[in-house]
Amino acid sequence: MRIHVPDLCSAQHKSNPYPVYARLRAEAPVMRIVFGDKKPAWLLTRYDDVAAALKDPRLAKNAYRTLTPEEQAKAMPWTPGFLRPLTTSMLDQDPPDHTRLRTLVHKAFTPRAVESLRERIEVLTAELIARARARGSIDLLEELAVPLPITVICEMLGVPEADRARFRAMSNRLIGIVTPTDMLLAMPSMWMLMRYLRGLVESRRRSGGNDMLAALIDAEEAGDRLGEEELLSMVMLLLLAGHETTVNLIASGMLSLFDDHEALERLRSEPSLIKPAVEELLRHTSPVDLATERYTTEEVAFSGHVIPKGQRVFAVLGSANHDEQMFAQPERLQLDRDPNRHLAFGSGIHYCVGAPLARLEAQIAFTAILKELPGLRLAVPRASLRWKPATILRGLDQLPVHCTPAPTCSI
Ligand code: HEM
Repeated sequence: MRIHVPDLCSAQHKSNPYPVYARLRAEAPVMRIVFGDKKPAWLLTRYDDVAAALKDPRLAKNAYRTLTPEEQAKAMPWTPGFLRPLTTSMLDQDPPDHTRLRTLVHKAFTPRAVESLRERIEVLTAELIARARARGSIDLLEELAVPLPITVICEMLGVPEADRARFRAMSNRLIGIVTPTDMLLAMPSMWMLMRYLRGLVESRRRSGGNDMLAALIDAEEAGDRLGEEELLSMVMLLLLAGHETTVNLIASGMLSLFDDHEALERLRSEPSLIKPAVEELLRHTSPVDLATERYTTEEVAFSGHVIPKGQRVFAVLGSANHDEQMFAQPERLQLDRDPNRHLAFGSGIHYCVGAPLARLEAQIAFTAILKELPGLRLAVPRASLRWKPATILRGLDQLPVHCTPAPTCSI
């Protein structure tokens, strides 16, 4: 069946994608569309199909694996060499390369390693909240949700404070890439960032250090080391994947709580609910919403539909996380939902390596925000909030709030 699908990368769709996803699940759960980048992709929208696809080794990350050399030359347009680290990260690799790269970085994100960051994350959060309280009204996204994860990942990697604004600007440009024209326009800033990162790696090679970048340079697994390109693409992936997603979880999660006053008040009065609440906010907001890209290395069937070999497939996490076959009343925020087998961090071998860090940051942030800012409320009408156009992620453009209690009327 053919149904009309709006532009899934548009700000309008991002503001409430769930009615479209519900229709797709019901009427066209496996559907071929032409995407914002003008290339076709198959959308999988049912929970069972998405979960199966993420674990299926017949779906590869590296598009080249599915093509003959002649097909590769035709399919892959010219990619400048300096951009290679952006397209060759571990997220774009299959075993055995993926296994090797993931083993090297995994140690930094074990629950124990992440727990050792707790105190620092609490201090950072407290500073940001004190600043917000002093200001009275802030953009919660730019002044709280952004600086927290970006500071944490930059400190882990040893990126100097003076350079962090540059990462934010760069990250915004990358997220905004939907069409080939966006890609061309973003090239100069990508080139500058690559040059900067090369300099950072070189200086760390010369002088060493205690941070994750120094550890990655030294990391050896079974006599293996990261090559120069691999190192750059790992740093790039960690900086980008390591902050924008968590920014969206904190900001969109706060909006979900504003939308459901009862849930907000419950979490405020029962802070021990924070762990299941963050899982529910991950499910409800699905920061990685749309494009977890894979390529079929052979024919694969989902919900009875055969997808031919060599096709691009998007497992739509935002839709899977709102599938009524899996989650009762999926649009409802149920802070103690149990079980909650959401797919917000993906599944299978590419399951988010930073999940323990993202969970900890969000648990600390929501707990502190609700405790320390009792008067927190939206500073603009709900309908005026805008979402960013994006291919992979779903996130707000800004979230203006008042941090002080609303004035009460007295007669
Ligand atoms: C992979 C989501 C935070 C680093 C992924 C994937 C998802 C995801 C869905 C799998 C994509 C796929 O299968 O195609 C999220 C969400 C986050 C978050 C929702 C926050 C709320 C983080 C953080 C870091 C991180 C804090 C690191 C500091 C990575 C890396 C991968 C990844 C390196 C690639 C893993 C691999 O290919 O094996 N993330 N992420 N993420 N994430 Fe996250």
